[in-house]
Amino acid sequence: MRQNISYGFQFSTFLIGVIIALLISLLIIIIFLILSPSEFFVFIFLLILFAIFVFEYCFINLSIKRYKKKVDYINKNIVKISKLNGDEIVLDLGTGSGATVIAFAKKLKKGKAIGLDYYIPPGDTILRKLINFIKINHIGSALNDANEIAKFEKVDEKCQFFKEDISKKLSFKNKKFDIITSRGSLYCISSKNHNNLFDEIDRVLKKEGKIIFQEPKKFFSWNMKKLEDFFQKKGYKTRIIRLPKSFHIIFYGEKI
Ligand SMILES: C[S@@+](CC[C@H](N)C(=O)[O-])C[C@H]1O[C@@H](n2cnc3c(N)ncnc32)[C@H](O)[C@@H]1O
Repeated sequence: MRQNISYGFQFSTFLIGVIIALLISLLIIIIFLILSPSEFFVFIFLLILFAIFVFEYCFINLSIKRYKKKVDYINKNIVKISKLNGDEIVLDLGTGSGATVIAFAKKLKKGKAIGLDYYIPPGDTILRKLINFIKINHIGSALNDANEIAKFEKVDEKCQFFKEDISKKLSFKNKKFDIITSRGSLYCISSKNHNNLFDEIDRVLKKEGKIIFQEPKKFFSWNMKKLEDFFQKKGYKTRIIRLPKSFHIIFYGEKI
């Protein structure tokens, strides 16, 4: 049974930690090449190596905590912006370990929150254990974690998670959802599939439904402007919301 909740951590923070640790190791090796090591120096060297491992471990843990705080803050705002009645059906695209779905499920009285992600890690392999150990959200422990966390938070009856590729046709009937969300997932989709993705979002969203996407403004072939243009052309009332005390932006649209 899960003892705590982790949605992974930011890969960039992990990399910074690794780079700092590598630089320190390199410096120590250079110093040891210059000085010929006595037994005392070898002992100090091993001690410093141990300290580097402890440093990296703490860095990762700190990153996991910071990432969870950030994800919780954004999701709290996404739920607030949605102005829930409590009986909605919500769809979260590229749900990862289900953080957004679970944030909605906590506030839903009668409705349901559904999360889609195409990543389910392989069984009990070394790769799976490694991914679990380092908890990188992007390659994800995804849907397995999502189900576990929903149980831990006692909202599993209001959540459903399915393995599905969101760049393809979605497996839901027209106008099923009141709210469609995504947090850092749409920008992962290849630009050649953007129009299909946006069309599918529009197809499965009810009239007067809402779309709430927290995505980067620009990232390689991803451009928030394209998203905005698409939904404005479809007649949606759209706006960009800047989150207070944060550089994150949220794209909000209402289907008229
Ligand atoms: C940066 S993570 C964000 C996860 C989650 N929304 C969160 O807030 O923690 C991006 C997620 O999108 C998923 N994803 C990327 N491309 C996808 C696709 N074509 N179909 C389904 N999921 C996809 C990845 O598996 C990953 O879990």
